[in-house]
Amino acid sequence: MQASTQTAAPSRLVLTGFMGSGKSTLGPLLAARLGWKFLDVDEVIEAEAGVTIAEIFARDGEPAFRRIERETIARLIATDALVLALGGGAIESEATRTLLLTAPGTLLVHLEVTLETTLRRCRGTEQTRPILADRANLEARYLRRLPLYREAHLSLPVDALLPEQAVSEILRAAFPACAKLHPK
Ligand code: S3P
Repeated sequence: MQASTQTAAPSRLVLTGFMGSGKSTLGPLLAARLGWKFLDVDEVIEAEAGVTIAEIFARDGEPAFRRIERETIARLIATDALVLALGGGAIESEATRTLLLTAPGTLLVHLEVTLETTLRRCRGTEQTRPILADRANLEARYLRRLPLYREAHLSLPVDALLPEQAVSEILRAAFPACAKLHPK
């Protein structure tokens, strides 16, 4: 795992990574272990808009979705004791990346998967994932995003990890002083 230097224990964890990397699966597990709240940005957007992400893409287009996504993250990031799962494309916004990398107390965690893992785990979800459905541009998007994801404070390859193993790795890296509380 790559980890940049963090001086104080984080007060919120933000999960990023390509579709199918496990953000929505690991987020609630991390939150339960920490006794923190879990929020999924896509779910918040859908609840507030009253329509699905796919409907927003079809009706208003990707740029409109990205604007809503950027504003929603900027609002949610003010909460403490929070595990926040981003949508896979949120880090394409430079403003969002800067916010997540510099907001005090925020640890941005990249769950790294290969494109093969994404395709295997997300098979059959094209109707709810417009970016996955856009197969012609998928590899280019993956390659374009990879260096952006890797700017995160932590970058953890998770293809071969069970959810509980990934959770332990993240907790160990995020809270090194508490390593004995979450042994491997
Ligand atoms: C997207 C990923 C989706 C969702 C939207 C766009 C992307 O979230 O935000 O369909 O651009 O990669 P997941 O990463 O949770 O699938």
